[in-house]
Amino acid sequence: MSAPDAIDALRTAASAAMRCAYAPYSGFRVGAALRGSDGAIYAGCNVENSSYPAGSCAERNALGAAVHAGCREFTAVVIVTEAATPTPPCGICRQALVEFAPGLAVASYAANGAHASWSLAELLPAPFTGNSLRSTT
Ligand code: THU
Repeated sequence: MSAPDAIDALRTAASAAMRCAYAPYSGFRVGAALRGSDGAIYAGCNVENSSYPAGSCAERNALGAAVHAGCREFTAVVIVTEAATPTPPCGICRQALVEFAPGLAVASYAANGAHASWSLAELLPAPFTGNSLRSTT
């Protein structure tokens, strides 16, 4: 993970995003902030739906905001929740993130400030990638 002040900025952005979460069904608000290789921060929150599978996670919404803004390379993501312990990104978000940032640093903060960090490679050691699609005979 990068320098402490760089992480603080991501954590602040993720916290602000979490407060925008639309999570009336789970009550589990999540904010995520990605550091783009352009230096900018791209944030997102979870957005749920009465048709549950139509909802989307904070991490993937942050990714969508970044790609829409023209950024496709990332160095770090910080996740903030109100959980008692730091939560890692879900499996679908791991897969979504590895498409753009296999070397991503991942940090997560719980409500009381407890935090954990991982590399994305550690969280998703054998990803399906574009190369997998090209491996047909
Ligand atoms: N959620 C995220 O936003 N990110 C994750 O990595 C895990 C789960 C959201 C989805 C849903 O709105 C709520 O948390 C409960 O699963």
